[in-house]
Order: sequence, then C-alpha cells, then structure tokens
Amino acid sequence: MSDIKSIIDDIKNRVDIIDIISEYINVEQRGESFKALCPFHNEKTPSFHISTQKQIYKCFGCGEGGDAISFIMKMENMEFLEAVKFLANKYGIEFNSNMSEKNKKILEKTKKYIDINTESARFYFKNLFSIRNNAYEYLRKRGLDDKTIKKFGLGYSFDSFNSLKNFLISKGYDISELIECGLISKKEEKTYDKFRNRIMFPIFDYRGNVIGFGGRVLDNSNPKYLNSPESIVFNKSENLYGINFCKKEIKNKTVILVEGYMDLISLFQYGIKNVLASLGTSLTKGQAQLIRRYADTVIISYDKDDAGIKATLRAIDILINFGINVRVLDLESSKDPDEFIRKYGVLEFNKKIKESSHYIKYKIDLLYKKYNILNDDEKIKFLGEAISLIKTLKNHIEIDFYSNYLSKISKTNIESIKMEIYNYNKNIQNNPNKNYKINKTNKEKFEKIKITKKIVFVEENLIKIILENTNHRNLILSQIQEKDLLLYESKEILKYIIKNKELDKITIDKLKSLNIHEEYISDLEKIIINDIDNLDTNYIRDVINNTKKNTINQKINNYQKELSINENKKEVHEKVMQIVTEIRNLKKELESLNK
Ligand code: GTP
Ligand code: MN
Repeated sequence: MSDIKSIIDDIKNRVDIIDIISEYINVEQRGESFKALCPFHNEKTPSFHISTQKQIYKCFGCGEGGDAISFIMKMENMEFLEAVKFLANKYGIEFNSNMSEKNKKILEKTKKYIDINTESARFYFKNLFSIRNNAYEYLRKRGLDDKTIKKFGLGYSFDSFNSLKNFLISKGYDISELIECGLISKKEEKTYDKFRNRIMFPIFDYRGNVIGFGGRVLDNSNPKYLNSPESIVFNKSENLYGINFCKKEIKNKTVILVEGYMDLISLFQYGIKNVLASLGTSLTKGQAQLIRRYADTVIISYDKDDAGIKATLRAIDILINFGINVRVLDLESSKDPDEFIRKYGVLEFNKKIKESSHYIKYKIDLLYKKYNILNDDEKIKFLGEAISLIKTLKNHIEIDFYSNYLSKISKTNIESIKMEIYNYNKNIQNNPNKNYKINKTNKEKFEKIKITKKIVFVEENLIKIILENTNHRNLILSQIQEKDLLLYESKEILKYIIKNKELDKITIDKLKSLNIHEEYISDLEKIIINDIDNLDTNYIRDVINNTKKNTINQKINNYQKELSINENKKEVHEKVMQIVTEIRNLKKELESLNK
C-alpha cells in the first residue's frame, strides 16, 4: 500500500498537532512551546510537551511520545491505518485517491451498504412514533425511556411485506443490493421485507455505522429474534454489540460482557456503560481481540440458564487465551442482568461487580455443585478436578489463594492440596533430563524480557537532568540509588557522577570513557529539557518516581518469570515462598510510590 504514504504526508502537511491534541486535553502555551498534563499517566505538574515545529509530542514523565497519528492511535484505541483514516476523514483528505480499481469498488460498496442500513434504521425509528403500534408500548413496558430508545436508535418494522422495500426502492437502491444486505428476502422470485412486526435493534460497528439489525417479536412467538445475515459490512465474528457506545466509557480497562441486546441497553440506562453484548452466539477469537484493544479485564454476566453457563465456560477459555483477566458475575436468582438491575437497581449491581469471582473460583464452585462431597468417592473426584483447575494458574499468589479456598470448602488439609499442585509429579521427578529441558527453555524466555523504549527514555531523561544541573543532581542523588535503575549504562553513569559530584556540568563527552553503548549516548544527546534550571520539584519527583516504578515493575516481572521456572523443582516450596515475599514487598513499595 504505497499510496498510503502520500495520504500520511498529506495529513502531516494539513494538520496541526496542537489542534488535534487540544481537542482531547487542555494545552497551555508558554512562549514557543506548549505544555499539558499528560493524558497517558497520572501527574500533577505538566510534563507533556508539544512541539509545533516538529509536530510531535513527548511526555518527560512517562516517556510516551510521537506524532499526530500515534496520538490518535493512543487516545482512540485505534490501529495505525484506522487512525490515518480517522484523520483523513476529519480533515477532508481523500482516502481512496490512489487506490486500485478493485479496492475502490469494495470501498464504494461498503459505503453504499452502510447507507442502506442507515436509511433503514431511520425508517424503523420513525415508524415507532408515526402510527399507533404496540412496539413503543412494549419498549416502555420493558422499562426503556425515550432517551434510551433514541440513543440506541430502536425502531419498529411494520406488519407489512413491502413497506421497507418500497421505501428503499424509492431512494434508488437496487433490489439485489437490498437482498444482499439481508433486509429483503427472496422466495420463488417474490421479494418481501424480512423483518415484519418486530422491534428493531440496529447493530453498529465501533465507529457507529449501522451494519445490521436484530429484530425481536412483540410476544412469545418464535423465532424470538431474527438477525441480519453476514454481509460485506456485517462480520459477526469480529463485532460486538455496543462497542461504539462502550468504547468511550471504559474505566479501569474493564468491560462487562452480556448476552443480549436488552441486557446491554438496560444496564446503559441505569448508568452502567462499560458493557458489550455477544448476542447469544459463542464468543469468537476475533471478538476477544476486539475487546483486548480496549480492556484487560472482562466480567462475564451471561444468563443463568444451562446455555448461559456453557457459553460462560467457552468465553472464559477464549478470553484467558488472549491474556485477558476474567471474572464472573453471580446474579443469584435473576435470569439475566436486565432482570436484575430492574429489580434491585444499580447499587446492588455494582455490589455484585465488586463481589464477582475470579474465573477459577467460578469453575470450582460449578464443580462443587456438580459433586456430592459427602460421598468419599465424589469428594476425591471433586478435589482432583479442582486441583487440575488450580494447576492451570501461573501466578503463585493466585495458586495459594485458591488452594486455601479449596481447602476450606472441601475441608481438606491445605498441605495435601499444595503437594498435589506443586506436582510431585512422578514423571518429572523420575526424569531429570526432561525437567532440565523445561527449565532451560523457560530460562531462555526469561532472559528475553524486553525493556521498552519508553522505560529507557524515562531513565535517560533522569540521567540527563543529573548531568546538567547540580541542584537537581543533589536532590536526585539523595533519592536514587544504583538499585533503582534498570540499565547497565545508567548505573555506570550514576556511579561516575557520585564519584565526581563536585563537577559543575558533566558533558556527554566525559561519559565516553565509560564504555557506554553508543545508542544510549546518542539518546542522551537528543534529549533537550526546556528551561532545565527552573524545573518544578514536583516534576523532578515525578521523574524519580517513574524511574523507580519502572524498575520495581521489571523486578516483579522477573520474579514472576522465575516462579514459572521453578514450578517443576522439588525445593519449590521454600523458594516460591521467598519469591512471593519479595514480590509482596515490591508491590508495597510500588503502592507507596503511587500515593
Ligand atoms: P429479551 O428476551 O427481550 O430479554 O431479550 P435478550 O436480549 O435478553 O435475549 P436472550 O437472553 O433470550 O438472548 C440473548 C441474545 O441471543 C439475543 O439478544 C439475541 O441476539 C440472541 N437470540 C436469542 N434468541 C434468538 C433467536 O431465536 N434467534 C437468533 N438468531 N438469535 C437469538
Ligand atoms: Mn433478557
């Protein structure tokens, strides 16, 4: 896609980064430069700098930086190409100017099908209010207010075989296009409206385009829902209902996953807006990927029935495979979230969220219900299965926690449970070579942990301040030790500086004797800190804290990797406990820095 390059150039020429950034945060002008509170980390004094000359931004607190496109990627959670499209759209830059004929056709068709769906949604929405019908009353009876009906664009398809068809034909669309969109059905050369006498739920993509519909009957007849078929615009396995509304509402990177349209809409009306609905089909990998762009934790709140439980178990497996944390909500006797929130209100719902279970606990509880543990044989089966579940966990603190839980509910000695979990697995014990191999590959993985450019930058920035200003140097040296730094280079420089404290300004040239990697030196040369002599002490504190936090996080990471290496060792008990204590202490230290 070489044509994309000219579009990017076009964007860069026409767009001022200040305009873009100030749409999202408050930007302050100070002389030539612009400053703001960084949107990517928590800070009290602004260390987010924007250069109009270079058309870039950089945060000297957390290291985040880039151009207009990367800013949009971060803020809107978009992939690169999407961000380019987003900006092109916003600034009236033709996106398809140099596209191949084939791609142009696809793009035009996509646009047309979205138009058809959008026109239909408007038509259905209007119907809801135009003549007397039972649909509006039905929605009101289900507790939805006008504002919600409008927000979700709910509508009504008349009890007629051709009202939508006539409407769309009069707008100039071909019947074949309408059939492809799934709005019109065809049987023995006869064409007719697919959705009749149904409540219409438009389905949106993440940008808010209408791409399909779900239609619900007004009574108890079957099928309860009809849905649009897949089409060039509606890819069911890659989309989630509500994504366009939810993506702006996600806090703490957590979303609630429900089954139905009504669940999501109802929760929204009650102010719970970080919700997505998988629409009754089982969650797909594509959907998990979509979620991962916006969240790292999913709280599943599917229906209480058997189908809901099965779907929950499937969703758990898919989500954890994508590294997403999974919790499960228990709404007790209510059949779904819609029923629960209408009955008990938002405070109770929030309470349930707080009480939601880690997916392992959810699975253990299901097993517990399945077996009668008063019977010895069943109890042993139960323990065996529950232990296999706990063994799938990587985090030893979690293992500890759920072993305790299992011990409590089954009234079984914790030591025996731990013995089983920390696998005095005969195979491995009798086969030391195999054991060695496992450890070796783990060790290689462990050594390959990446320190990101961002982390490097934060440290280099700190070093640069120490080099350039003696006042700040003394403040920083009183709070930073070698152990707080990650990089060999930074440590070497720190040692050198401590030895040469009396020097006024330490030039980068002087460092060259220290065997410092040239990339590090060149980075140092590139960092320019505006008005360095007048830096705020709060700012310096942020830089110190961020440096420490990065190092602590890295140490925690390393320890966690070490735990996984030791998983198969015999002396694991002591070692694990030691590491777990280290991690606990580091986390405490981290917490105190976050205060
Ligand atoms: P209400 O019964 O109105 O509360 O709807 P709901 O949204 O809670 O639906 P339910 O929990 O019964 O089902 C969850 C989702 O599965 C629905 O939102 C639909 O997307 C889908 N679904 C349910 N029934 C059918 C059906 O008969 N056919 C199809 N294709 N999908 C269905
Ligand atoms: Mn329901």
